[in-house]
Amino acid sequence: MSADGPSRKEARREALRRAAAQGPALVRGVDVVVDPEGVASLARRPVVALCRCEASTRLPWCDGTHKRLV
Ligand code: FES
Repeated sequence: MSADGPSRKEARREALRRAAAQGPALVRGVDVVVDPEGVASLARRPVVALCRCEASTRLPWCDGTHKRLV
């Protein structure tokens, strides 16, 4: 960062970092996901998106709600 604030490249990198941090965790090759309460959900796809923002209406799966939180 310069005295004038972040450069365009730095600002873009920070925006991408925030988007990645607030988006789902993509997990490949799992059959079952078990939440902290012990509830198991079958993974029906080769790659599944697990919610990390805890705002999804379909936990443990990401339903895209995180996009409205940024
Ligand atoms: S990460 Fe997508 S809804 Fe939570």
